[in-house]
Amino acid sequence: MGLQLSRRQFVGSTAALSLSALIPRGMLAASSGTQRVIVRTDAEIGVVRPEFHSHFAEHLGSCVYGGLWVGKKSPIPNLEGYRKQAIEYLRELGVPVLRWPGGCYADDYHWRDGIGPVEQRPKRVNIHWGGYVEDGSFGTHEFMGLCRLLGAEPYFAGNVGSGSPRELRDWIEYCNMPSGSTLAEERIKNGAPEPFRVRYWGVGNENWGCGGWMRPEVYANLYRQFSVYVRQYGGTQPYLVASGPNGNDRKWTRGFMDTLDGGAPGGLSMHYYEGGPDRATEYSADHLGQQLSIFKRVEEAITEQRTLLDGYRDGHKIGLILDEWGVWDKIPEEDEKRYGKLWMQSTMRSAVAAGLGLNIFNRQADKLFMCNIAQIVNVLQSLLLTDGPEGKSCIRTTTYHAFALFKPHRSKTAVRIETQDSSPLGISVSASRAEKELVITFVNPRHDADFEIDCTIQGSSAREGKAQILHDPDWNACNTFENPNRIIPQTHPLTVEGSRLRMDLPRLSVATVTLNTA
Ligand code: AHR
Repeated sequence: MGLQLSRRQFVGSTAALSLSALIPRGMLAASSGTQRVIVRTDAEIGVVRPEFHSHFAEHLGSCVYGGLWVGKKSPIPNLEGYRKQAIEYLRELGVPVLRWPGGCYADDYHWRDGIGPVEQRPKRVNIHWGGYVEDGSFGTHEFMGLCRLLGAEPYFAGNVGSGSPRELRDWIEYCNMPSGSTLAEERIKNGAPEPFRVRYWGVGNENWGCGGWMRPEVYANLYRQFSVYVRQYGGTQPYLVASGPNGNDRKWTRGFMDTLDGGAPGGLSMHYYEGGPDRATEYSADHLGQQLSIFKRVEEAITEQRTLLDGYRDGHKIGLILDEWGVWDKIPEEDEKRYGKLWMQSTMRSAVAAGLGLNIFNRQADKLFMCNIAQIVNVLQSLLLTDGPEGKSCIRTTTYHAFALFKPHRSKTAVRIETQDSSPLGISVSASRAEKELVITFVNPRHDADFEIDCTIQGSSAREGKAQILHDPDWNACNTFENPNRIIPQTHPLTVEGSRLRMDLPRLSVATVTLNTA
């Protein structure tokens, strides 16, 4: 594929202004590999909500069973049934919000199958993900226990496709009503005297596809009906998330909003996967470029869907939620047989993809409410991998480390940046600040070019700084059970002189610079 990048093109996103207006001519004639970047600390975008770093756990393959939940009697070290090593790694990273139980599974899940004595729970077939029999041992209480251990806010995806308004309203009452009603007393009898206070409720999932294959008008009418029966109990006001578009499908969003005709859900969920035809560890250079280029379209989708929503009465109040995103590579059958359905390695390429996505969320911080990568353990672009559901090993993927590098942005205010190159594989940058700290993340998605960063900080100057980098020149390199720490963040040299910072950014790298500013 053509990787001829023009160094004279300037970023055209809404988060950028013209660089040429701000730096003297001549300076723009950068030497090969030099990337000039301007961070405008005085131009605020919005808060980097910690929710941009949220996660998703589906009853799929070995994500829940064997990944997060091994059961109390397992020989695998566990905390009351939860895989100990997974909990420790995830606690360290911090999981702001965790979405569950699907995915496609959500619209075939009946919550009553997952409460009460475990031996009495019915066994159901997981029709979407391999037709295996689910014993329901991980249900509402077990999920809430997981959220408590992780310090995560729960996000339940309700069933519209094969469920009913009554089923959803009852699940909410069961979770949130403090006491007194039959459903609240049932929860108390099942071991939870305090209400769960669940705020986020998805009204179905991908109802244009596995969630009922509906037309947007049909789904909108169902949304209207379901939402009437959703109430607050004990002061917990539900935040409803409507099923939104597949990628940047404007027809779906328009059809939904037109039919809704007034009123607004709390949020609208868009899903955007970045597919690729190769096995994760066997990417060709061409396919690497094609997959990473998709992120440009993700950014466009965010701005276009936001604009579309804002055009409706009360549309500006709807939070745009990207609650499934991430790379989706070819998954060989032998890997699935060995480790579980949709089990996928994360490579240096995946870490770069994570960095591109997380930089976009910062740059579009004013347009987004929440983002949940798919999925947290063992499925697609996961943060952790185990060697199958029975395996004792649990390792952190390159994607985990990319997320860790973005953690310093959480709750800071994103500010505008300018770069020279707006092409899909140009350098990707975002920045945020709070008080006297400025955080900048750089991603070099090129497999064939090393960059030298020449960054000007406009609006303040830095006293000192430090950098961490995740890098491997081999885009197919990954952390394995044999070599779990092959790719981990390393300290990286940088030069800070007042309002200027210089640093090398090798091919295929994600780097975070933290500066103390004056
Ligand atoms: O994340 C895997 C699947 O992808 C989910 O179940 C579904 O919502 C999406 O199509």
